[in-house]
Amino acid sequence: MGIEELAARLRQSRRVTILTGAGVSTASGVPTFRGPGGLWRQCRPEDLATPAAFRRNPHLVWEWYAWRRELIASCRPNPAHDVIARWSHELDDCRVITQNVDDLHVRAGTANLIRVHGSIWAMSCWRACGGSPWRDESVPLLPFPPSCPHCGGLARPAVVWFGESLDQADIDAAIHACSCDVFLLVGTSSVVYPAAGLVHEARRRGAFTAEINVDSTPVSSEVDVAIHAPAEEVLTNIAKRHTP
Ligand code: APR
Repeated sequence: MGIEELAARLRQSRRVTILTGAGVSTASGVPTFRGPGGLWRQCRPEDLATPAAFRRNPHLVWEWYAWRRELIASCRPNPAHDVIARWSHELDDCRVITQNVDDLHVRAGTANLIRVHGSIWAMSCWRACGGSPWRDESVPLLPFPPSCPHCGGLARPAVVWFGESLDQADIDAAIHACSCDVFLLVGTSSVVYPAAGLVHEARRRGAFTAEINVDSTPVSSEVDVAIHAPAEEVLTNIAKRHTP
């Protein structure tokens, strides 16, 4: 029932915004953060994903990122990424906001992509020497830990850690994307702000809101349609019925 309603809404809509989280990459083999097998079940965010953690032990943090980079390098986009990429080109006005740093949406060829938490394949200077962030796709990471090509100091992953602000241009683009006909959440636990607040803003602006997630989340009871099934299956199913 939910799938049909969402498919019908998408058929009628011109402006569609999709917000994705770690669950969209599960079928690719990338671990989520929360839920069964989630990364935050095995380790604490405050030990690995905060500026204080990096200050305390940059080697430990870089070892964790080197492990994740290696894991993600062997993963490929799955049908959920593929359907989203296709819609991003075929729909009149489709924006994709992702919290994922794995860049699988990029590899699937997604247009109009807003990466609010950065990319695991980008680095910046820990001391913020003024040089621009750079891309580094080397696996394994050599030298270890990596250094800044501008000043020779320590590099850091160019991702947004807990306690850090999102890039203002990304926030502006994400908020702008809340003016849409359909706002679709895919594979996010909807607990990390500010991204988790976007669905409320979209609702306030009159969007039809929907969630695709294997589990229920804090917003399941607030969206117009909540579909509890794997994103890769639901999106493929909708794509079969949906001709833009
Ligand atoms: N299809 C749909 N949903 C899925 C699937 C799947 N195949 N597999 C897992 N999920 C759901 C889980 O039930 C969970 O609700 O995806 C969600 C993933 O949630 P999180 O692991 O919390 O990921 P996310 O919402 O992206 O986390 C936000 O938290 O730690 C930070 O910076 C990190 O960007 C991340 C942010």
